[in-house]
Amino acid sequence: MRVLITGGAGYIGSHTAVQLVRAGHDPIIVDSYVNSTPAVLPRLEQVTGRRIPAYDIDLVDEAATRALFDEARPDAVIHFAALKAVSESVDDPFSYYRNNLQSALSVVGAMLDVGCRTMIFSSSATVYGDGAAPSTEEQDHLSSGTPYGRTKVMIEQILTDIARASDLRVAVLRYFNPVGAHPSGLLGESPAGEPSNLMPYIAQVAAGKRERLTVFGGDYPTPDGTCLRDYLHVLDLADGHVAALEKIAEGSIDVRAWNLGRGTPVSVLELIHAFEQASGRPVPYVVGPRRAGDLPAVWADTTRARSELGWSAERSVEEMCADTWRWQCANPDGYDSGIATAHG
Ligand code: NAD
Ligand code: WQD
Repeated sequence: MRVLITGGAGYIGSHTAVQLVRAGHDPIIVDSYVNSTPAVLPRLEQVTGRRIPAYDIDLVDEAATRALFDEARPDAVIHFAALKAVSESVDDPFSYYRNNLQSALSVVGAMLDVGCRTMIFSSSATVYGDGAAPSTEEQDHLSSGTPYGRTKVMIEQILTDIARASDLRVAVLRYFNPVGAHPSGLLGESPAGEPSNLMPYIAQVAAGKRERLTVFGGDYPTPDGTCLRDYLHVLDLADGHVAALEKIAEGSIDVRAWNLGRGTPVSVLELIHAFEQASGRPVPYVVGPRRAGDLPAVWADTTRARSELGWSAERSVEEMCADTWRWQCANPDGYDSGIATAHG
C-alpha cells in the first residue's frame, strides 16, 4: 500500500517508515519539521536502502494538504503529526488545539475528498484519564487532564463519528510509553532542549551531558516507591502500526481502538538500573518531589491487540536501553550531530 505518514520525520513516524518498507509497503512522508528535522531523511535512506518521498507541508493548511493528497494519492494514512509536550500544552493550549485539531481535520477532509478510506490515528494512554485502573483495557469513556490529552480525546471522538457516518475505516492506537531507537544507531529520539521524558533524560545523564536525574517521587504505593509505567520499544510500536493497517485494510471494521504496550509495569528505579547495566555507566539520581499530574501506575491490558491484531511487543527492557545508548553515543546532539557513525 502507498501509506502517507504525517509527522513521518518525527520519532515514531520515522521508525514506522522503516517497518513499513520492511513489510513491503511504500511510505510517503509529510512533515512541517516543527518538532523534527529533514536530517532524518538521508538516515532513512541509509537504513531502508530507499529514498522515501517527503513533503514539507504544515497540515493546518487545508489547501496545501488537499493538494498533497491530489499528488500523492495514498491508499492509507498514518496520522502522527501533532504537538506532544504535555506541560507546554498547559501553558499554550491554543497552539495545541489549533495544530492538533486543525491538522487532523485537514487530513480527514482530504481523505474523504480523494477517496482514501484507511486511517491509523496516534492516540495515547492519556485518554484513560486520571481515574483509570492501573492496568487498562480499551474503553470508550475518555477524559484527560491536559489540553494535549484532550486533543487526543476530541480527535478520537471526531474520527469515530465520521467513521460511523461514512466508509472511512479508522484504527485508533493508544500508545503507552515508547522508548528506544533503531538498532543501527541512525534513528532515535532527538528532543530539543532538556528532555521531559524519562528515557532520554537517563541517556543524557549516562553520557555525562547532565549531572543527575531527579526521580519524581519515591513515596508512591508501589514496590519501590517510584511510579510504574509500560515502556515499549519504538520498533515494536512501529510493527503495531503495520499490523493495524493490514487489519483495517481488510474492510470489516469501521472504527476500533487498540492499546499498544508491553503490558508489563516497570518502575523508574528499575529503568535506571537496566540502563546502567546496558551502558556500563552510572546514572546518578536524587529522589525529589512528585511531579504534578503523574499517576502512580499505568500499564496496558494488551489482550485485544494480541487477539485481534496478532501483535505483541517482544523487545525487552534491556534492548530498549541498549538501543537508546547506541543512539545516544553515536548522536550526542541528536540529529544536530551530523553524519552518525553507525554500528551493526
Ligand atoms: P514527534 O514530535 O517526534 O513527531 C511528530 C511529528 O509531527 C514531528 O516531526 C512534527 O514536526 C510533525 N508535526 C507536528 N505538527 C505538524 C503539522 N501541523 N503539520 C505537519 N507536521 C507536523 O512525536 P512522536 O513521539 O513521534 O509522536 C508521534 C505521535 O504519537 C504524536 O501524535 C504523539 O502525540 C503521539 N504519541 C506519542 C507518545 C510518545 O511518548 N512519544 C505517546 C503517545 C502518543
Ligand atoms: C515516566 C516516569 C515520571 C522524568 C508522558 C505523557 C503521556 C505520553 C507519554 C504522549 C514517570 C518519571 C520522568 C524525570 C522522573 N505522551 N520521571 N524524572 O509521564 O508516563 O507519559 O509520555 O502522549 O501523555 O504524559 O512519561 O517519560 O514523562 O515519565 O522520575 O526527569 O518517569 O514521574 O513516573 P509519562 P515520562
